[in-house]
Amino acid sequence: MRSSENDGQPKKVITVPELLDYKRQNRRIVMVTAYDYSASLIADRAGVDAILVGDSLGMMALGYKNVLPVTLDEIIHHTHAVTAAARRALVVADLPFGCYQASARDALKSAVRLLKEAGAKSVKMEGGAHIAESVELVTKSGIPVMGHLGLTPQSVHQFGGHKLQATTDEAVGTLINDALAVERAGAWAIVLEMVPAEAARAVSRELTVPTIGIGAGPWCDGQVQVWHDLLALPPGRDFHHVKQYANLGDIAIQALKDYAEEVRESKFPTEEHSS
Ligand code: KIV
Repeated sequence: MRSSENDGQPKKVITVPELLDYKRQNRRIVMVTAYDYSASLIADRAGVDAILVGDSLGMMALGYKNVLPVTLDEIIHHTHAVTAAARRALVVADLPFGCYQASARDALKSAVRLLKEAGAKSVKMEGGAHIAESVELVTKSGIPVMGHLGLTPQSVHQFGGHKLQATTDEAVGTLINDALAVERAGAWAIVLEMVPAEAARAVSRELTVPTIGIGAGPWCDGQVQVWHDLLALPPGRDFHHVKQYANLGDIAIQALKDYAEEVRESKFPTEEHSS
């Protein structure tokens, strides 16, 4: 077993097989997004199991309107910063829109870049049965794949917005079939985003691999949240499925106001801060 120094404590490095065991032990998986070195360091020190370099970085870090413009090079750039800080947590990187949908070969080439150039340990791909061939090729090449079903933000225009999915019995059936297809193809976990809690419970019962929920109720095998939503960065984004554990946006605004005032009034720096 490999271990690393983190926060002064030797801690076990989290692996995919270990997270698969969590489901057997009925132990919840904790995952959070991070897009840069310092967020990754904090998440790792907090002891989360996995860090997702999600394409949500397009909105949260790059100012895009949705995830569609995010490029593979941008994900590689941010994943590199995240893996530089993560000592314990498993780093999963998103395959962004357009770099895997055309063929299994594209998926493999893009996934290889995320491991080789950025140090990710797993990749995430959106979609069900129709991407099974790609999931199979990537996993058979030795790259762990996390699936993503329900509200898949790369299909936002098909859904007509970021809306709850799997709201009919028929849609729940399709969700379960897609999840089983992605599991059979080799995925080691599946994110379920914005689906009713009962639908997520049904999928979680059907699968042997863990489900990781976001806006999918309490019965998934783990949860993933967007860093900025948990910490209210920036303030004002308030989603039904999010709990804000701290209001860092307001704290940061106040801190920078205090700094500005002290500079303007020549209160900072004092001699104490001189080199
Ligand atoms: O990009 C992202 O942050 C995600 C999570 C919402 C699961 O895909």
